[in-house]
Amino acid sequence: MIHLEKVTRDNVDDVIELRVAREQKDFLASNVESLADAYLALSEGRPVYPFAILNGKKVVGFIMIDYAHDWSGYEHEAWLKSDEYKFYEDKPYYYIWRFMIDKRFQGRGYGREALKQAIDFVKTFPCGEAKYCVLSYSPTNEVAKKFYESVGFVEINGPGYYEENDERSAVLKL
Ligand SMILES: CC(C)(COP(=O)(O)OP(=O)(O)OC[C@H]1O[C@@H](n2cnc3c(N)ncnc32)[C@H](O)[C@@H]1OP(=O)(O)O)[C@@H](O)C(=O)NCCC(=O)NCCS
Repeated sequence: MIHLEKVTRDNVDDVIELRVAREQKDFLASNVESLADAYLALSEGRPVYPFAILNGKKVVGFIMIDYAHDWSGYEHEAWLKSDEYKFYEDKPYYYIWRFMIDKRFQGRGYGREALKQAIDFVKTFPCGEAKYCVLSYSPTNEVAKKFYESVGFVEINGPGYYEENDERSAVLKL
């Protein structure tokens, strides 16, 4: 029974203890860094939703969502000049900022179910309506790329993107 719970005093220690595999460490910040990022975002007045992912009572993962309007940060100059960028510019979106399942619990379908529930949460539009959900991943993270594609995310990459950027970004139409 996978479900999302707000990060609270009761589960924060378990969230901080979660780890990805050694070869996955470059794919995302540690959860303690993510919680620091959440604190900073909130102190700047930006909405952010850090969730523990639980299987029953056991914390197995972490996912963090925020809400934004600015699409320029993800891409490079060619993207900023592209028709695609002009289309998205100023349109609000939800962003899956961090997402991980602890190495002990990967490959059991928990990630897929947690992502589905995160998208269901986004569709409640807690910060206002948006037509898009965005996320980013390392170009070497083939598992994430295939997984997100299977959920319906489509990469938004201008020409030259792969050479110039550390991360790929993908959009899901809500
Ligand atoms: C990406 C991640 C969250 C997926 O969570 P998970 O619980 O392992 O995923 P699931 O078991 O629900 O599997 C989702 C899909 O990915 C595939 N998958 C998962 N792990 C895989 C692996 N090691 N190799 C190949 N495919 C894999 C599964 O086959 C599955 O597809 P299917 O449903 O068609 O079979 C998890 O692997 C993870 O935390 N990775 C490290 C951190 C990371 O990369 N986060 C994303 C940064 S953007």
